[in-house]
Amino acid sequence: MSKLVPKFYDLIMAPIEKNRFKRVRSGLLSHATGHVLEIGSGTGVNFPLYQNAQSVTAIEPDETMKERSMEKVFNSKVPIEVRLAYAENLPFVENQFDCIVVTLALCTIQDVNHALSEARRVVKPGGQVMFFEHVRLNHSIVGKVQDVLTPFWKKVAGGCHLNRNSLTLIKEAGFEVVEVERMYKGLFLVIKAKNF
Ligand SMILES: C[S@@+](CC[C@H](N)C(=O)[O-])C[C@H]1O[C@@H](n2cnc3c(N)ncnc32)[C@H](O)[C@@H]1O
Repeated sequence: MSKLVPKFYDLIMAPIEKNRFKRVRSGLLSHATGHVLEIGSGTGVNFPLYQNAQSVTAIEPDETMKERSMEKVFNSKVPIEVRLAYAENLPFVENQFDCIVVTLALCTIQDVNHALSEARRVVKPGGQVMFFEHVRLNHSIVGKVQDVLTPFWKKVAGGCHLNRNSLTLIKEAGFEVVEVERMYKGLFLVIKAKNF
């Protein structure tokens, strides 16, 4: 990833994070309990918002992103450990976690199917899996615009795909989707799912 993305990520996201995104993240993360795995934790935007987790293990492949999250680790209310790793190859044993959290990261993971099958492997049967993601819109014009923009956007935004059908991919991976909240006309989804 270009060094610019980790450096300016918090700054670029600040206006949108301050209000609605922070509320969404807080609401979602209040349900994250037990031993939690966060995938693609970036600069640790979620870290101050964990209230009820027993512990959080976060994985993040970008060293600069990880470094930038460390201050939030030290100030967090729950124990958090960040490890350098890829979602496609999780360094954990089967059924290790009670809950998995993925926010704005499925869009960026290169082999998303492999990552979701790894998530299923490490979360306990009955465990919760929660996502906050932007997705491809099922709209004849906007969806096509997302397709056209994605090759350029991937280059400037650290590999982010504007046109990922994340909800479909989550279902196809075998998770049971329990609740979907649609925001910004369905461009952003809050998805609560279960492993079974
Ligand atoms: C848009 S940022 C989101 C960061 C954070 N989750 C948030 O909500 O602000 C996407 C993150 O996914 C990470 N990422 C990219 N490829 C990944 C992979 N294969 N496995 C795990 N994380 C990945 C990036 O390094 C980056 O930190």
